[in-house]
Formats: sequence, C-alpha cells, structure tokens
Amino acid sequence: MNGISHRRLGVNVDHVATLRQARQARYPDPLAAALVAERAGASQITVHIRGDRRHIQERDIVRLAESVQTLLNVEAATTSEMEEILLRTRPHRVTLVAERPGEVTTEGGLDVASQADVVAAFCARLHAAGIHTALFIDPDTAQVDASAIPGVDMVELNTARYAEEGGRELGRLARATERARSLGLAVAAGHGLTLHNLRALAVAAPEIEEYNIGHALIADAVFLGLETSVRRYLELLA
Ligand code: PXP
Repeated sequence: MNGISHRRLGVNVDHVATLRQARQARYPDPLAAALVAERAGASQITVHIRGDRRHIQERDIVRLAESVQTLLNVEAATTSEMEEILLRTRPHRVTLVAERPGEVTTEGGLDVASQADVVAAFCARLHAAGIHTALFIDPDTAQVDASAIPGVDMVELNTARYAEEGGRELGRLARATERARSLGLAVAAGHGLTLHNLRALAVAAPEIEEYNIGHALIADAVFLGLETSVRRYLELLA
C-alpha cells in the first residue's frame, strides 16, 4: 500500500462559467468541462453557487446533477435561498461555506463554532433529503471540534493561508486533519492549491482524502488543455 491511493481530486469548474458569464454567452459550458475532467480522472466535480450568480447558475446544477458520472459537490452559503435550490437539485454532496457579498473569492472558513445550532439544523434538513454534507472551515481546533455534528460527514480545510504563507502552515493543517479524523470526520482540503503547493500538503497530511481545486487548475488548462491540466494535478496525488 503506497498510502496515497485514497486521494481524490475534485475539479471545480466555476471559472469555466465565469468566462461564459463575462460575455453572457452560451459557452464555454461548465458541464462540457466537467465531462472532460471526469474523462481525465477527476473523482468529483465541484461548483459554488453564489448569491450573486457570478458564475454557476441553478440551471448548471440541474444539468450537472443529471450528467456527472462521479459525484457532484455543490458549495453554498447557509441561506434560505440556497437551501431551496439545494433541496430542488439534490446534489450528492453540499459543502457549506461562508460568503460575504462582494468578496472576490471565499475569504475564510465557515464559523461553525459560533453558530453550531444553525449549521446543525441546516445540515439536518439536507441530510433528511439524502444529501451528504461537508463544512468548509479554517484549520482551527475550535472549528474542527464544532464540526462534529451528527449527519456531517466531512470537513474541508481552508488552505488559503497555506497558499499565501507556504510551509509554516503545514503543521496546522496536519494537526487539524488528525483531529478531524479522530472525531470520525473525513477530511478534504481546498482553496489556492496549485501545481506548486499541492504535493507538499499531500505529503504533510496524508489523511486528507480529497482536494478541491479550481482557479489554478482552470488557469493551467488555458495553456495545457483541461485534460492535461487535470492529469498533472492527479500525478501530484499519485
Ligand atoms: N473549496 C472551497 C470551499 C471553495 O470555496 C473554493 C473556491 O470556490 C475552492 C475549494 C477552490 O479554490 P480555488 O479556486 O482557489 O482552487
């Protein structure tokens, strides 16, 4: 056993939709990108439906849910509008995220510790509809502990600070991973991961079983093609 065969790559296709929305055009189609990513070996397709609909639209989720052959993971904020969309479209998994109107990208993890009841109730309603739930949190002990909520299967650790500050964040991510695993939670990671920083994290925290990568992977695809870009990321997880 090489100890890393369990690592999965989730390809976030939001920025294919960003390009489409920039022109209010019909292309490029995030579903077409999802199918290419799956063909290249992605284990999951991830999209983030934002309140301002800057990239992914509800219709994209409907189409992705119909056609994705692996798993569809939808990131969304804990608003009633999103809850209605999620219960209508029923993706395989929902990852709950913090969202601030006007932010350029997700700025931090969901503060589960300060609103555990609200998050738990939201997750319970999704769970009752057969939807798996994950929480996108900063790699802090208090947030990990607060995430051990019945019906929550997974935490996704926010790697934004690692992407900015590099190796000194690895210890914090490794400790948060171990703690989450000890609480029975599966662990994913994402935000700001690139061909340059992914491998070191996978080595430092081998129990992270899933990586969700969007911006850099789609940016690399501009030069490499999407299939090759996905394969390069997979090579770093092999
Ligand atoms: N995971 C979550 C919860 C996110 O919000 C994002 C960004 O949408 C990602 C992963 C992917 O981050 P990036 O686009 O920087 O790879």
